[in-house]
Amino acid sequence: MEDSMLKRFSVSMEGTLLTKFDELVAKRGYTNRSEAVRDLVREAILEEIWEADEQLIAGTVMLFYNHHQRNLLEEMTTIQHEWHDLIMATTHFHLNHDNCLELIVVQGKVDEVRALSDRLTSLKGVDYGKFTIAPVEKI
Ligand code: NI
Repeated sequence: MEDSMLKRFSVSMEGTLLTKFDELVAKRGYTNRSEAVRDLVREAILEEIWEADEQLIAGTVMLFYNHHQRNLLEEMTTIQHEWHDLIMATTHFHLNHDNCLELIVVQGKVDEVRALSDRLTSLKGVDYGKFTIAPVEKI
């Protein structure tokens, strides 16, 4: 059951570490330490989720590539049709004469979505690929 009530707890740390933390809080533009701690905790939990294969997640696969690469477009389309049940949307941007950016929004079990992302980002001709995830259930 979701509990959105804010709870307080106290944290002890060395002065030097706290100074560095306060610098990080300022640099990232947080208005207070609590917000920064909440985000750091969420980040740590996300890393755990990443390891739990059955966890349901949503995310994006971003692909940057040269569309002149032989067979690349065909392979991409074939893979996306093969995994269509994980793909919610695909948006293609023609960046310039040669290069494209494709953004694929995915949802499913983390191991399946990760496998799809690996297939796409490892294709020959994909210069840069990035997979980002968010849990479907609030953390
Ligand atoms: Ni294009």
